[in-house]
Amino acid sequence: MIRIRPRRLRISQSVRDMTSETRLTSSMLVYPVFIREGHNIIEDIPAMPGQKRYSPDTLPRILEHAAKNQIGAVLFFGIPEHKDENGTSAYDDNGVIQNAIRISKREFPDLTVIGDVCMCEYTSHGHCGLIRHNDVDNDSTLELLARIAVSQANAGADIVAPSAMMDGQVKAIRDALDDSGLTDTLIFSYAVKYASAFYGPFREAAGSAPSFGDRKTYQMNPKNIREALREALLDVEEGADMLMVKPALPYLDVLKSVKERVLVPVGAYCVSGEYSMMKAAAQNGWLDEKRIVCESAFSIARAGADIIITYHALDLAEWIHNGEI
Ligand code: PBG
Repeated sequence: MIRIRPRRLRISQSVRDMTSETRLTSSMLVYPVFIREGHNIIEDIPAMPGQKRYSPDTLPRILEHAAKNQIGAVLFFGIPEHKDENGTSAYDDNGVIQNAIRISKREFPDLTVIGDVCMCEYTSHGHCGLIRHNDVDNDSTLELLARIAVSQANAGADIVAPSAMMDGQVKAIRDALDDSGLTDTLIFSYAVKYASAFYGPFREAAGSAPSFGDRKTYQMNPKNIREALREALLDVEEGADMLMVKPALPYLDVLKSVKERVLVPVGAYCVSGEYSMMKAAAQNGWLDEKRIVCESAFSIARAGADIIITYHALDLAEWIHNGEI
């Protein structure tokens, strides 16, 4: 007799679990956290229900959950009080993100900390680099990104994640870290970052919307995939230890192709707009939040992500630990 369906479709839950092709662990999850200057602050982010901005002193309250659920890492975004054209508070050794990193490392030494290395949260114009002639100037920005990375690593960041999309940023940062004796600091490069409308809620959260123009001159065109592969290979050559594809769900084809071509771990960032869409539908009772979040995370893992950066990381980790998924 010819069996036309695999027999395991009709088997028990435990065998189905044993034979499943994709698994999620809390150690593969990264939780992004927004930290603003000030004291005693925990404030809502209206476009991202459930996510908050913390001042460095209240940060341990959320990190405690991350540590307890043994998630892979936290990813810090700093929101400074003072912004200027050159984003100087980004590399201030007493800046908001540097202080947050120190507090995190003091309170939870085993929790891996990733620092987002960019300028858009720190510049008055909201662009990811220095402005010359009304556009972002790639080469003069490199030096500043390197300074930011070194100051974060000196504060204790285990990993730095350059997200400015400047050409040569990984090499500039690697050289600067090595010159400062920070040879053990890893680089998680946002190698494949599309110019995406899905970053909308993040820009509200971090106050980083560009005051003129857009980011299309340095972020990637959603119509292209080969360009993404070139960027990924170049970043590995420049010394990236891990690569990121961003956003996640609309770019699973890109994620899969990158994963097939590189030999470093690949992460996918399920960005603010992806989170807010799911949250909004769930809050309206249109979709079951837990089920769509799990299904999405499994899809991202199935497409090849070794690491998933998601605002749902703490929820997912809790569900994993409770044996619910
Ligand atoms: C830029 C940066 C952005 C995000 C992460 N790093 C925003 C942007 O490029 O405008 C977006 C993350 C998200 O939407 O969750 N430093």
